[in-house]
Amino acid sequence: MCGIIGYSGPLEAKRLLIEGLAGLEYRGYDSAGIAFFDTVSQVRLVKQVGKVAALKETCEKLQGSSHCGIGHTRWATHGGVTNANAHPHQAGRITLIHNGIIENYHQLTEEFGLQDKLVSQTDSEVAAHVLDHFYKDDPFTAIQELVRRSEGSYAFCILFADRPGEVYAIRKTSPLVAAYTHSGALIASDLTALIPYTHSYFVVPEGELVRLTPYKVQTYRLDDLSKTQPETMTVNWNMDAAMKNGFPHFMLKEIHEQPEAMKNTVLPRLSKGLPDLSEDGIPDALFLSCSQVHIVACGTAMHAGMVARTIMEPLLRIPVTVTIASEFRYQQPLIDEDTLVIVISQSGETVDTIAAMGLAKAYGSKTLAIVNVKGSTIARESQYVLYTHAGPEIAVASTKAYSVQLAALYLITCRMALVRGRYTNEQAVTFLQEFLDVIPAMEDMIRRKDEMKAVVSHIINSPDAFFIGRGLDYAFSLEGALKLKEISYIHSEAYAAGELKHGTIALISDKVPVIAIATQDDIFAKSMSNVREVKARGAFVILVTKEGKDVSADLADVHITIPAVQDIFTVFPIAVVLQLIAYYASLGKGLDVDQPRNLAKSVTVE
Ligand code: M6R
Repeated sequence: MCGIIGYSGPLEAKRLLIEGLAGLEYRGYDSAGIAFFDTVSQVRLVKQVGKVAALKETCEKLQGSSHCGIGHTRWATHGGVTNANAHPHQAGRITLIHNGIIENYHQLTEEFGLQDKLVSQTDSEVAAHVLDHFYKDDPFTAIQELVRRSEGSYAFCILFADRPGEVYAIRKTSPLVAAYTHSGALIASDLTALIPYTHSYFVVPEGELVRLTPYKVQTYRLDDLSKTQPETMTVNWNMDAAMKNGFPHFMLKEIHEQPEAMKNTVLPRLSKGLPDLSEDGIPDALFLSCSQVHIVACGTAMHAGMVARTIMEPLLRIPVTVTIASEFRYQQPLIDEDTLVIVISQSGETVDTIAAMGLAKAYGSKTLAIVNVKGSTIARESQYVLYTHAGPEIAVASTKAYSVQLAALYLITCRMALVRGRYTNEQAVTFLQEFLDVIPAMEDMIRRKDEMKAVVSHIINSPDAFFIGRGLDYAFSLEGALKLKEISYIHSEAYAAGELKHGTIALISDKVPVIAIATQDDIFAKSMSNVREVKARGAFVILVTKEGKDVSADLADVHITIPAVQDIFTVFPIAVVLQLIAYYASLGKGLDVDQPRNLAKSVTVE
């Protein structure tokens, strides 16, 4: 959470920082601020509540140039959304921005007698004061002392008032990437801020100090301050991928990008019609040696895991468990050396997922991460990585990342079935042939987006909406409900359709929208009975089935059909349907589709 950028170089820093923040805004957007050295090398600070666009307007009125500064876009953790709580924070000669949480900030406040000095409610300002306390003209020593005393997670970028042209940084858990480019030295919480200037970058190693000057980015070991040389990485997408390219919202663009993302993720991993993960360095032994699979993730990524569990368990005949990462990390999970722990994360920076993976490793389990962002923490720390190739996902609501996470999970399932003797080569080839049919099916649903647009008029005036389904359809419903609630603020919940009559059906009354998903042939009749139950209580039923199903006219108020792909693959076209319903609901309510309230794209705090 929170977007961070630091710069030193020949370009106009204010403009560069603001442009960088606009690219990072999806990480948090309740307030924003920059600090920079002005023409007389004084540190100047501008910060305010609201979006980066508002900050930009304020900054455009500022006179004079600047070539070094830091910028921050905030997702509030400590203290409300106020100008005082916005970053950067200042104390004496220190100006800093922070992403993360300093857990012992109360203790530090007392230890350093800061009670009457603080002007904000943030843990970050406490860190600024602690740093100022230790700053006796040597930034390195002061930062070493701050690190020694701070508990929690952080990425700090710091200006020292008497060191114009220099930006210092340090991180623990919270991400930072940096680069030296023809346009100067840059550091940021993620790549979107660096891409306009370079495709080569490095991930700031934990426990290393970084100094940016106009000519260099240098890293140092924190303990003995010896120079280090982090590994350079290359990013394979360009700025275009992180632009709207004519779409009104990132979310709509990313929904449209799904068929391409699916191809990029699946096709390079097929060899003679069979799944082949050898180029990813994933050995068959990993799949052979495990006696159970445990999937750990958050939010949408966890929902992808729920779908995978439903297809994996009957096919592989081994236990497959899905646990929310923030729960898993504080449990004593029943995992061991024979457990394959699959960790799923778009960003690769979700702090709960990182911690859960650490726990799995401590139990001796093997870890396989499905990650979209190359070089992210989860990708670096997992024993094995299967990258999804969705390109940057900017909208807070995850869409294309979900589809490609599923695609990766289906590939893994097929490979596992093959190496464990649950599939013959012919069966695996057939599985993948049928799997590839989902790409045109997704394209078809995208083309038919107006059908989903038309439906939302029946949803947006209701305070509640329900998603129901059985088996796999229930697993899809979970994601449909999350998508709708996070961007339309309509209270939406998913229920296993057969469970309704055990309580939830009490909530169904006249015109309450129920999105009923019934794509599984073997339980179709049962699902229809449940639809009949909600219809009988006045629900407004939006029914989604495969085409060719005989559905009586009185059962559904709206009937959306998807192409008749095999049952285990219906999630792909269904995902498009549910994403579009959420998108148009948010749009219909006049909300901020890409940056819904209270959320941020990458959740780097607990
Ligand atoms: O980056 P991750 O995949 O680890 O993020 C996990 C969740 O925060 C994320 O999937 C979230 O639920 C979605 N943005 C919701 O659309």
